[in-house]
Amino acid sequence: MSRNVTSIIAGSPAAGATGARFASTNPAHTSEIVADVSPGDASTFVAATRAARQAQQAWADTPAPVRGRAIAHIGRVVEANAESLARLVTREIGKPYAEALGEVREVVDTCDFFLGEGRRLYGQTVPSEMPDKQLFTFRNPVGVVSVITAGNFPVAVPSWYLIPALLCGNTVVWKPADYSPACGAALFDLLVHGGGLPDGVLNLVLSGGEATFAGLERALAEGLVDKVGFTGSSAVGSRIGELTGRHLQSACLELGGKNPMVVAPSADLDLAVEAALFSGFGTAGQRCTSLGTVIVHESVHDDFIARFDKATRQATVGDPFGDVVYGPMLDEKFAQRFEDFLGWIQPHHSVLGSTATGRITATSPREGFTGDPVAGIFYHPTIVDGVRADDAIFLNETFGPLVGVTTYRDLGEAIRLANIPGYGLSSSIYTSEPAEVFAFRRGISAGMVSVNNSTSGAEAHLPFGGNGKSGNGSRQSGMWVLDQFTRWQSMNWDYSGRLQKAQMDVTELTPDESFRLAD
Ligand code: UN1
Repeated sequence: MSRNVTSIIAGSPAAGATGARFASTNPAHTSEIVADVSPGDASTFVAATRAARQAQQAWADTPAPVRGRAIAHIGRVVEANAESLARLVTREIGKPYAEALGEVREVVDTCDFFLGEGRRLYGQTVPSEMPDKQLFTFRNPVGVVSVITAGNFPVAVPSWYLIPALLCGNTVVWKPADYSPACGAALFDLLVHGGGLPDGVLNLVLSGGEATFAGLERALAEGLVDKVGFTGSSAVGSRIGELTGRHLQSACLELGGKNPMVVAPSADLDLAVEAALFSGFGTAGQRCTSLGTVIVHESVHDDFIARFDKATRQATVGDPFGDVVYGPMLDEKFAQRFEDFLGWIQPHHSVLGSTATGRITATSPREGFTGDPVAGIFYHPTIVDGVRADDAIFLNETFGPLVGVTTYRDLGEAIRLANIPGYGLSSSIYTSEPAEVFAFRRGISAGMVSVNNSTSGAEAHLPFGGNGKSGNGSRQSGMWVLDQFTRWQSMNWDYSGRLQKAQMDVTELTPDESFRLAD
């Protein structure tokens, strides 16, 4: 079944830009249309921010516990629709169904975390340095939040922004990825219906990247946007950071990763291989937390690589509704880019993991493939051994089923190698030595560190985010994201009946600094 989807502004469908209709297709069966899309343009985006601006004060005036109840109801409605939403995720972006169910679970977890925050959103009472004066802090909503998200997690990652932003009293304009509009429209419906959200509190804009950027530029210039949340590539993230910076705003940026996994001599190699397989090839390597490079100690390299190669060759690729490690690429545009990354393989590399590299076809088959490879956009898993620190494959994110492998001699070298690419999202170390764990934690530039666990699969209530090319230091999830969607306001209240001057009219006790204990 295909559905018609369009932007929704202040509760009403917005007419799409003329002649711009396009189809969102199933990447495992590209002839199957999942949604017919009437995309908007830059004006649609601006109109949505205007509607959000109009609805904002009333939403901010709705008591936070009432907003928290709305989040509670959204969680229950998403849970009741979990299977149909997961099926849609699998159909539209090709994520294996079990993973898609996990992704929907992440939306529910996010609601479960924030529903109680409506009854907290604590401010503080703070002692004053003067008598008859009291100090307070309050969390205020930021205002209108624009959320622009990628399609590899078409419902979970958006919920990390939408749920806390709404809870905190902001109104929102959400622009999902142009290759996951049906998932976007479905999550939008669940939020609006589940939460009973008034018109204009949440608005959906379906538009292309450049139109969105132009709309955002105009909306910022007109003072219609107070905060931007963006998940996507480092290149687009830096454009958004630059644009918001001109308006003295700091966007919440969640960008790419080149996530390292260090395998120490004391590691349980079977566990490390299992994790490398899951984080390297799960979601066809298209998570921002996907494994980039395994940095394995030279003494266990040969053993590790033999086991990793074997496990990868045995992994089932194919129909994402079946029991597979991974399915198709998210969309043709990622396949094209992945072909470029494969072009970075050099004669000094050894390529392992499959019967071929590149697209899986009738003439380039993959053993054990389930389904029809030609019907969709499927790629061989590729392990590139022998990568060097100045290789393009080592230095850049290679979004897709490709994992590099290199070796190290001592932990200092492993940490140095892990930091060279300049990203800093996720990282992992496999070791039995506590001292190595803490040395790695201290030395690694990443915002997230896994010990004897893979680089992907972060839980939804720990701070999520990165440094360097992975982001600007903002963090999502858990209580930490509240600082993105609220502004602290401090208040002081002097009821002494006179002007008490801070730092000047302060009582001082007189210490006897020469006092010493008698021996
Ligand atoms: C992403 O790819 O943008 O930690 C997010 C993980 C998931 C989220 C990934 N929970 O792999």
